[in-house]
Amino acid sequence: VEFTDVVRQRRMVRRYRSEPVERALIDRLLTLAVRAPSAGFSQGWHFLVLDDEAAVGAYWSATLDPERQQAPPDRWLRGLQSAPVLIVVFAERAAYERRYAAADKSGGAPVDLERRWPVPYWVIDAGTAAGYLLLAATDAGLGACWFGVPTDRVAALADAFAVPPGFVPVGTVSLGFAAEPESSSPEPDKSGNPSRPVRRPQAEVVSYGRFSSVPAAGD
Ligand SMILES: Cc1cc2nc3c(=O)[nH]c(=O)nc-3n(C[C@H](O)[C@H](O)[C@H](O)COP(=O)(O)O)c2cc1C
Repeated sequence: VEFTDVVRQRRMVRRYRSEPVERALIDRLLTLAVRAPSAGFSQGWHFLVLDDEAAVGAYWSATLDPERQQAPPDRWLRGLQSAPVLIVVFAERAAYERRYAAADKSGGAPVDLERRWPVPYWVIDAGTAAGYLLLAATDAGLGACWFGVPTDRVAALADAFAVPPGFVPVGTVSLGFAAEPESSSPEPDKSGNPSRPVRRPQAEVVSYGRFSSVPAAGD
């Protein structure tokens, strides 16, 4: 598929058919994800692939709070739980500390990356890789959705999957063959829900040369 079409066609898919996704195909997507750029080529990302029922079930047990596990799943959860594959994407800050302490960066001196950078690049880079993963999935004819791990379930996730200390879950990508015939996404808004956002006009988010007038929140 043409790159432009992949970008335009990609939508979060939140309901899946039951067919499994072969490991060879998952590997192909990850081969593309790790082509993402990373600060200093630090590549402080990690991908935990859960592709069997037991592992996927263990993910949901770890990340849903006990109340939600008792209640019947809502539409969103039922849909995402139909995904045969989950890939949890982690960011590893220490990879950047090691890389930026290297001779070609800081001459071996310790670095304070939080002062050096206005945002944590390990999170940016893991997120960028996740974005590549979503595009690779679209290109391969698969559906995918990127969703967060609730903060208060991070420890349970770490326990369940032996997540090494210092690995922060940036999010999870569900993967599978799409069950829904059309987009569940807000563009164009077929949901009939007036509070659902639509894609912002480009002129509102792009400025050439300098910012002229920034629309106030709620405008
Ligand atoms: C960092 C991030 C977190 C997201 N978290 C969730 C989530 O928890 N649940 C969900 O259903 N969608 C989640 N999304 C998907 C967005 O809702 C979606 O990207 C947005 O509505 C635009 O739709 P589209 O990606 O289908 O074009 C997340 C997306 C990003 C980038």
